[in-house]
Amino acid sequence: MADAAMYAALRRALFLVPPERIHTLVFAGLRGVTAPAALRRRAERTLAPADPALASTVFGVRFPGPLGLAAGFDKDGRGLNTWGALGFGYAEVGTVTARAQPGNPAPRLFRLPADRALLNRMGFNNHGAGELALRLARHSPDIPIGVNIGKTKVIPPEDAVDDYRASARLLGPLAAYLVVNVSSPNTPGLRDLQAVEALRPILAGVLAETTTPVLVKIAPDLSDADVDEIADLAVELGLAGIVATNTTVSRDGLHTPGVHGLGSGGVSGPPVAQRSLEILRQLYARVGDRLVLISVGGIETADDAWERIVSGATLLQGYTGFVYGGGWWAKHLHDGIAQRLRAGGFASLTDAVGSAAKG
Ligand SMILES: Cc1cc2nc3c(=O)[nH]c(=O)nc-3n(C[C@H](O)[C@H](O)[C@H](O)COP(=O)(O)O)c2cc1C
Repeated sequence: MADAAMYAALRRALFLVPPERIHTLVFAGLRGVTAPAALRRRAERTLAPADPALASTVFGVRFPGPLGLAAGFDKDGRGLNTWGALGFGYAEVGTVTARAQPGNPAPRLFRLPADRALLNRMGFNNHGAGELALRLARHSPDIPIGVNIGKTKVIPPEDAVDDYRASARLLGPLAAYLVVNVSSPNTPGLRDLQAVEALRPILAGVLAETTTPVLVKIAPDLSDADVDEIADLAVELGLAGIVATNTTVSRDGLHTPGVHGLGSGGVSGPPVAQRSLEILRQLYARVGDRLVLISVGGIETADDAWERIVSGATLLQGYTGFVYGGGWWAKHLHDGIAQRLRAGGFASLTDAVGSAAKG
C-alpha cells in the first residue's frame, strides 16, 4: 500500500529524533492539522469508520468503530478533537492522577525497533484530574472519550482509595467510561493494588462516586489465578468491564540489541501480544458477556484485531501499533475488520464478539 510505504520512509526520519521529543512534536502537529473544523471534517471523511457494521453500543455508549487510542498517548486530553479525525472509534485519555505530577526523569521512553516495540517508564507525568476535567467540560465529543485514572505517586498505598475517589468524582460525569489503572509498572507499588484485598475497596470507592461505567486495567504479568480472581471481583462488584492489558515488565524474547541496558519500564507492542490474547481468552471463558472486555497489547494488523474480537473483545485499543503504523493505521484496521465481518456473514460487530470461543 502506497501510504504504508510512505509512512515507512517518514518513520525512518521521525525515528532519528529522540522518542519523547518526537512524540511531543508529532502530537502537536496532529493537533494543529485537526484544529480547523474544515480540515478535521476532511480527515474524518477519509479516515473515520463509515461502515455501519463497525458501530456498536457498549454500556449505553455508541462507538462508531471498535478500535480506540490506548491510554498514555494523550495523557491530559489535549487532543480531544484529534482522534476521531484520525479514524479512531474512541480514545482513552490519561492516565491522570488526582494531583499533577512530573513523572520519572528522562530518558524514560525508548524504541525497540527490532521488536516493533516500545519501552517506557514515564511514571504518570500529567497535569492532574482537575485540568483534564476543565478540558472535558469545554469539549463537545465526536467520539466517546474514556478516562483512565491512576494513583498519585506521593500518596501512600493506605490512602489510595481516597486518591482514586477524588479523580473519579471529578472526571466520572465527564467521561464515556472510567478505567481504574492498577497495572502500570512505573509507579512503585501500584501493581500490588491488583491483589483483590487492595483492589476491592478502590473499585467499590470509585463505583460509589459515579454512575459512569467503570472498568479496571490489568497487567499482562498477572498469574492465571490472579486474572480469575479479578474477573470474579469485577462481576461481583458490578463493574462494566476489564481492559487487558497494560505493558509487561518481562524482557523475554526481545531482539533489540542493548535492551537490557535501558533499565526498568514496561514493554508494549508485539512482545506483549501473546499474553494479552491469552488473558483475553481466559477472561472471556470466565465471564462471557457479563463484562465488556477491551483488548489491548500488541495489536498491529487487521488479523490481530479480528482475532481479539472473535476471542471475546468488544472493543480494542492500540498505542505502539499506531506509532509504527502511522496516520492510516486506524482506518486500515477498521476496513480490515469490516471485510472480515462480511466474509464471515456477521450482520454486526456484536455478533462476531466471542464467536471463536462459542464455536
Ligand atoms: C509511552 C507509553 C505510555 C503509556 N502510558 C500509559 C498510561 O498512562 N496509562 C495506561 O493505562 N497505559 C499506558 N500505556 C500502556 C498502553 O495503554 C497499552 O496498554 C500498552 O502499550 C499495550 O498496548 P500496545 O501494544 O498497543 O502499545 C502506555 C504505553 C506507552 C507505550
